[in-house]
Amino acid sequence: MWLKKLVAVSMIITLVGMNGIAIAGIFAPSKSGRELSATQQASLAIPVITFSAQPQQVATGSFSSLTWSVEGTVDSCRGEGSWEGQKTAFGSQSTGRLAKEGIFTYALICKNAAGEAKQTVTVTVKTGAVSPPTTPTAPSSPGTPTVTYCNGASSCYGPREVAAHNSSGNCWGYNGNRVINISGFDAAFHRAKSGISSIEVGGVCGTNLANALGGSVGAEGQTRNHSNASKSNAERNMTSFFIGYYDAKKP
Ligand code: HEM
Repeated sequence: MWLKKLVAVSMIITLVGMNGIAIAGIFAPSKSGRELSATQQASLAIPVITFSAQPQQVATGSFSSLTWSVEGTVDSCRGEGSWEGQKTAFGSQSTGRLAKEGIFTYALICKNAAGEAKQTVTVTVKTGAVSPPTTPTAPSSPGTPTVTYCNGASSCYGPREVAAHNSSGNCWGYNGNRVINISGFDAAFHRAKSGISSIEVGGVCGTNLANALGGSVGAEGQTRNHSNASKSNAERNMTSFFIGYYDAKKP
């Protein structure tokens, strides 16, 4: 009899012990794929952000163009302050029309497994303020006429500058006299609206968007002849991604 009791007690002890090990295993810190070894962590640096607002001072009713790039490994970027939400690791975005006077702060935060980096720029909006020119005009020699592009509006881009932004995540295009940051627009609006995972394709990035808007460029096997509002740059979801003006003559 005492032998039976001894066996039963030892079985209970064994079972309790095994459960304890299993529970400890469940709650132990996970060693998932995203965790880095000490050596990997030591070699991985926090991303380095370059971020600017152009112009930094504008008149009420005007807009400024925010441009940024991030060096190093980037897992994700987000905006805080006067712009919010997910951002690409390279891009440009308009502040949209700044109707009220004040100082507006735009923060960009990018992170990877080593940590977070943050850069902040401010745009001062003042009634009657005159925006400084974006590109200093070279002193003209007597008799040489000074050439202005985009009728003097800033920021002004030519075909070469737009064509340089021709890949997914770094995708610009122009429609009429406007340059649009397609990467930002794609992530913030177009994906959800169209169900197309990306319009950052050849025929869109670095080129004339009239083709895609008119339905002659395909993405994921689809084409779309867009609304007249979109074709004429009046679609409100597009306007906040205007980053400047386009002038075909600008070198
Ligand atoms: C690459 C080819 C593209 C395709 C296949 C495409 C396709 C689509 C589709 C399927 C919709 C949803 C229509 C609906 O059901 O309401 C849409 C909407 C929209 N897309 Fe695109 N798109 C393309 C490129 C672009 C580009 C480059 C822009 C902007 C510059 C743009 C701007 C818009 C806008 C503003 C809307 C909403 C209003 C409208 O229908 O015009 N799309 N697009």
